[in-house]
Amino acid sequence: MRSAWTIPDLVTASSGAAPRHGCGQTMRQERESAALLFPDQFLWGTATASHQVEGNNTNNDWWEWEQKGRILDGSRSGLACDHYRLYREDFDLLAALHQNAHRLSLEWSRIEPTPGFFDPDAIAHYRDVLEYLRRLGIEPVVTLHHFTNPRWLSAKGGWETAEVVDAFGRYVARAVDAFGDLVRYWVTINEPVVYATKGYFEAVWPPGKRSLRRLTRVLHNMILGHARAARMIREHSPRTDVQIGVAHHLRVFDPYRPILPFDHFVARTGEALFNRAVLLSMLDGHFQFPFGRGAIPEGQDTLDFIGLNYYSRDMATFDLRHPRSYFGSFFAHPDRPKTAAGWEIYPEGIYRVLKFLARFNKPILITENGVADERDELRPAFLITHLQQIHRAMQEGVKVQGYLHWSALDNFEWSEGRRLRFGLIHVDYDTLKRTVKPSGELYARICAMGGIGTAMLQQYAGSASFA
Ligand code: FCB
Repeated sequence: MRSAWTIPDLVTASSGAAPRHGCGQTMRQERESAALLFPDQFLWGTATASHQVEGNNTNNDWWEWEQKGRILDGSRSGLACDHYRLYREDFDLLAALHQNAHRLSLEWSRIEPTPGFFDPDAIAHYRDVLEYLRRLGIEPVVTLHHFTNPRWLSAKGGWETAEVVDAFGRYVARAVDAFGDLVRYWVTINEPVVYATKGYFEAVWPPGKRSLRRLTRVLHNMILGHARAARMIREHSPRTDVQIGVAHHLRVFDPYRPILPFDHFVARTGEALFNRAVLLSMLDGHFQFPFGRGAIPEGQDTLDFIGLNYYSRDMATFDLRHPRSYFGSFFAHPDRPKTAAGWEIYPEGIYRVLKFLARFNKPILITENGVADERDELRPAFLITHLQQIHRAMQEGVKVQGYLHWSALDNFEWSEGRRLRFGLIHVDYDTLKRTVKPSGELYARICAMGGIGTAMLQQYAGSASFA
């Protein structure tokens, strides 16, 4: 059965899903019988980032990097999903799939293509994007920096230089002036630790450097940049209900050989550097990192909510062959199920990181959680088992405001290119045709119901080998 999507040229559904309206009775009944109910005002949606979906972002550092052939599968972002042109159709589809929230990022290099010049066309574009979402009843969650920098900024040394803080602050102030009435949830920076590690320590993302000192300097500047952005949002937003957060990637670190104290030590070090350091600096203003210990008073109390990006767990071992990473080695558990990215599927991890975050007493928004899965074989059970663990944490008092699945659409997965598909909606990169995957339809039922039904639990959670 084909469903009644209203964008026939671009979209097909792999089987039938209920349209947004006209299923009230059934959904009410399902909600009454749902096994795991979430609060009425829970945000249910998906997340994307400008460079991964928009296409033609020719003026940023990633575009430059791609032209140097640095993408593993040889692909380039190119037209990506052509979402810069097709956003209305895409949002219609998300609304039809019952989503009530959507996380997107503004492309700094479009808004400020040369230093100090703010492009009215780009601003008009993003205003329309945000107004359109609001018109559909979809709450926008807006990221100001999601990995990409304007080329003029990277030419000046990007996040390694102290000047970036002023530059970022100026862009943020302008963005909040332009869109502030439409945005309640602002995410200042996406995954500072991932950004700094990949670009300045592992050398697999631009600018391709390898230095712990540089990594630390970049993190320090990102904390200052975040703090400046938070101040700009507070000063420039016309809304009294504005909420400021960071999207922080948290992983679980467990000792691979639990009887060895050294493995415990490595796991704790991984956790301290990856999970805690940056987050703590934005809460209490103290930063603890190799080469960068000390107070960052500007950072203190700059979060209204914590954005959680959760994907996986790493096993940790002490390994003399890795002096550069403090003799620590991190890898996916060899005996557990993995995604196409090679990451362990570990649903209980989201419960564990939520319990860890709960101690900071801030509301939590799950800003990303998803799975690389070419044929949509893992995603349905991945969704159900992770939501089950989120529900478990909420039952124990953890304040979770919403769940934004990564991602709405298959898209350009950074250095991995197009090979990894994270979407609830399949994108054919030749024709740009969108097709809702079975997991997209399952998620639509969850969003409409505001919970997980008994049958869904039986079908997916019971049989999942990774539950
Ligand atoms: C996160 C990124 C996001 C996407 C997912 C798979 O680290 O924030 O852009 O690449 O991983």
